[in-house]
Amino acid sequence: MSPQPQAAVGAPLSRVDGRLKVTGKAVYAAEHDVDGAVHAVIVDASIGRGRITSVDTGDAEKHPGVLRVISHRNAPKLPYRDNAGSNNPPGRRLRVFQDDRVLFHGQPVAVVVATTLEAAQHGASLVKVRYDAEKSSTDLHEAEPGRPTDYARGDAEAGLRSSAVRLDLTYQLARNHHNPMEPHATIARWDGDKLTVWDKTQWVMGTHDELAAVFDLPAESVRVINPFVGGGFGSGLRCWPHTVVAALAARETKRPVKLVLSRKQMYFGAGFRPSYEYRLRLGSDRRGRLAAAVHDIDAETSSYETFTEAVMGAGQMLYSMPNVSQAYRQVPLDVNTPIWMRGPGFASASFVIESAMDELAHELGIDPIELRRRNEPREDESSNLPFSTRQLRECYTVGAREFGWQARSSRPRARREGDWLIGLGMAAGVYDCGRFPAEARARLDADGTAVVEAATSDMGPGTYTSQTQVAADALGLSMRTVTFRLGDSLYPPTSPHGGSATMASVGSAVVDACDQVRQQAIKLAVEDRESPLYRVDAGDVVVRGGRLHVQGNPARGETYRSLLARNDRSHLEARGNYAGAPSPARRSYFAYNATFAEVAVDAALGLVRVRRMLGVYDAGRIISPKLADSQALGGIVGGIGTALLEHTVTDHRDGRIVNANLADYLVPVNADVPEVRAIYLDGEDNDGNALGVKGLGEVVQVGVAAAIGNAVFNATGRRVRELPITAEALL
Ligand code: MOS
Repeated sequence: MSPQPQAAVGAPLSRVDGRLKVTGKAVYAAEHDVDGAVHAVIVDASIGRGRITSVDTGDAEKHPGVLRVISHRNAPKLPYRDNAGSNNPPGRRLRVFQDDRVLFHGQPVAVVVATTLEAAQHGASLVKVRYDAEKSSTDLHEAEPGRPTDYARGDAEAGLRSSAVRLDLTYQLARNHHNPMEPHATIARWDGDKLTVWDKTQWVMGTHDELAAVFDLPAESVRVINPFVGGGFGSGLRCWPHTVVAALAARETKRPVKLVLSRKQMYFGAGFRPSYEYRLRLGSDRRGRLAAAVHDIDAETSSYETFTEAVMGAGQMLYSMPNVSQAYRQVPLDVNTPIWMRGPGFASASFVIESAMDELAHELGIDPIELRRRNEPREDESSNLPFSTRQLRECYTVGAREFGWQARSSRPRARREGDWLIGLGMAAGVYDCGRFPAEARARLDADGTAVVEAATSDMGPGTYTSQTQVAADALGLSMRTVTFRLGDSLYPPTSPHGGSATMASVGSAVVDACDQVRQQAIKLAVEDRESPLYRVDAGDVVVRGGRLHVQGNPARGETYRSLLARNDRSHLEARGNYAGAPSPARRSYFAYNATFAEVAVDAALGLVRVRRMLGVYDAGRIISPKLADSQALGGIVGGIGTALLEHTVTDHRDGRIVNANLADYLVPVNADVPEVRAIYLDGEDNDGNALGVKGLGEVVQVGVAAAIGNAVFNATGRRVRELPITAEALL
């Protein structure tokens, strides 16, 4: 079969929805104009753990405009059917207003519904909740961990004992919050027994299924709409309690209800990257060949759900070594449940592993890149599978050349410019990209335009654009004539928009749907006596610019429009399907990077300034280079935040988050972000997806914090085993 010409894929196109976004016409969750909508504001628990003894709603109910105050005292019992899907972790999910228990500071204890936002806000301030407070536990270092998840190969303790060089390092990683620009928000409306929600989510179908489970509704009675997401970073990967609160409030008041989390409520209403205490013991010979690693990993979770992320993967497969043992213990605390945040698990583990590799390189007097090369595995030693593609060596070579690595002195504090100590650092990154089941629908209309639909999301990577590129090439249409629609549970279902999986998964379903439509048209043409393509071998026909023609003979052919008109067809349509990752796996499928950083550290003040960053990515085929650059820049900015700024601070006396606002929770601003460059290695990875992609969105954050930390060491000679790396740690 002649391959379809690729015109849109690989082209550095601007976003198809860019104009909507910059002109304010893109409509986000809270902005939908739903007739008669009233406003809801949640009242948050002001204790870290305990029981509600009374809820005095008198003053709130008397307030003009307040329609209803709902708490556990008057809320109806909700079915909360079991739902193992929708990314609900093992445990018992928080059931809003179903009992008097308070499980964490900030838990919703009541909601005030009013005709205006101001009345709802003031009403919420008038609700008086009294508690019987218990001592809450929010300190990772003080609490008892749960049973570990273990991994072992070889004998790591014996391997350590017999190693000539041993490191024993303990790292503390701060809790991070996603802080997308758009707050989480829901508008809920009931039409009889049918529920429609406009909701900020990265998983339309997950929210759909969870609402059906909570309210015990048939699937077809719930619709979730979500055309635009103003950033997510993982915070929208499950349905949170406030979405249920909005739906409950709408049902109780018989009015559509709009509920927007305040910035403060975003700190306990929509998950976070858990804090870690991570002890790593490494053993190697004097030439830097790793013999053993023992990983002791403690991470926080809530008291009611056990959140797990992929923090063990990198330690099992990034470097070659015979002996590895890992114990990953979740520590239940009186906090809300964490969730994946950009580069989840791998970003946290990589700070530890890649900082430790830098320590080992320094100890042995080996260049950090050379040390990594000496430990490059031939196959994935965790699964004994061959790598589908792994170009980490090339990432090092290209990165070292383009960044000017040879200018780095292996001696710390070797380079000084006035008050500033200058250092270079690097790290490797790896991410286990997902490939999840997905479906899509494509329809080619008689006018030669096409509409392609899937119930995925676009939290910012540019899904609208990249899927249009994929669909346009598969249909043989120009970008202008293809519309890709997403963000509605009425469209064909897809898996979460996360885990770097959307292009491999939804993209494969889109290709399947569009290929089928194109093949239908080709079949119609070659069987149609009046077509110039009559009796041509279908495998010799390609479509370009909406015109079917013989491969290599553009003159012989006709347009979709003439073909459909003559055959009296209003449209051609097909549903595409992608089954997910090949099972059982035949290849080890990961994306990689080498990340480089140059920092300047004020010798007197400890202030760290990142001066330059470079990421070299082995992420398979790049569908959309301009969007890829946005992803890489965003990942590096996020990594700078994790490395130097982001730190959710909890007052352990009562579990209150002290810096639950964007003034005190520090994120990188323009002045913190230097020149950033991204390079993508050529290469396709066709392990289980026709597009040859591996996924880019997560791997771009992995390794960034370690590269910066290693540069700080190179500049100062100070090793900070704590994130974020602050000025005080460097004084
Ligand atoms: Mo990503 S943390 O799966 O949004």
